[in-house]
Amino acid sequence: MKCTRCKAKAEVHLRAHNAGFCRPCYVEYFRRQVERSIDKQKMFGRDDHILVAVSGGKDSLALWDVLIALGYRTTGLYLGLGIGGYSDRSKAMVEAFSSARDLPLIVRTLADEGPGLAVPDVAASTRRVPCAACGAMKRHFFDAAAHEGRFDVLATGHNLDDEAARLLGNVLRWQRDHLARQRPVLEPTHPKFVRKVKPFYLLSEYETAVYTFMRGIEYVVEECPNAAGATQLVYKDALNRLEASSPGTKQAFVKEFVRSAQALFANDVARDTPGECQACGMPAFGALCSFCSLVREVETKRARRAAAELGA
Ligand code: AMP
Ligand code: FES
Ligand code: ZN
Repeated sequence: MKCTRCKAKAEVHLRAHNAGFCRPCYVEYFRRQVERSIDKQKMFGRDDHILVAVSGGKDSLALWDVLIALGYRTTGLYLGLGIGGYSDRSKAMVEAFSSARDLPLIVRTLADEGPGLAVPDVAASTRRVPCAACGAMKRHFFDAAAHEGRFDVLATGHNLDDEAARLLGNVLRWQRDHLARQRPVLEPTHPKFVRKVKPFYLLSEYETAVYTFMRGIEYVVEECPNAAGATQLVYKDALNRLEASSPGTKQAFVKEFVRSAQALFANDVARDTPGECQACGMPAFGALCSFCSLVREVETKRARRAAAELGA
């Protein structure tokens, strides 16, 4: 197959787009797609300072690479979740990426925060599934870092496969309040929040993987050990089968939802404006934000366990 742009020998074939690309044209194609999403969805502009959440995986490192190439002002944010060797290896990847390119990086280690908040410890003390504890903490530290550093936008590496799987899950149960918030751009609902954007929402995991390979970006290949068996993976698998028999399905599913259906849900679900958390000052719907409630729960349960052990 020949490159759709320059007619050289193609290295990659994208069935969903019925196109083939050589290496330089693919890199160009990929960046243009990201730029198009940024502009079309009004994610951010040249003057904005973007906080890029980087996990050490291929999507977020590819995102950082593209934003730099497109000339945006960025700082990376890495959260050390304390998930054993997986977290050590992902941190090393992020640090290697940023130091090789001399990019600013903020690192926060959950084990050093509050009473010690490494994901496995929080999950064990509160008997929550690790991903639930992890999600709540990630959200808080993303918001807090964006607010403290006075960033304009927070960007994550969620790709088309992530968004299609999430959409399928939300549609299968008609979770209207979740559909109301599933957008590539989330405007802040409080002055202490910043806009959240997903510039890769129309680029598939395969396209991102090809980009990282062609750019020689090193990343952690392993998934988080807690992800195995997650429902999200079942949805991804189902969508991949649909995609194989009908290329372009995933993109049409997400793109059309955002274009024509999302607003119906967004307008339908009334949203309260949050107040402020009594403990950390970040936006909250009750006296405490969900992060601070989680921290309180960890502290209480640890204290109770320590007391029981002393008494035993
Ligand atoms: P996930 O929830 O693991 O699918 O990750 C989705 C996005 O969240 C990634 O593309 C990153 O932008 C961000 N992210 C996930 N884990 C971390 C982390 N430990 N530190 C910073 N950003 C992260
Ligand atoms: Fe949070 Fe796996 S990344 S539990
Ligand atoms: Zn709080």
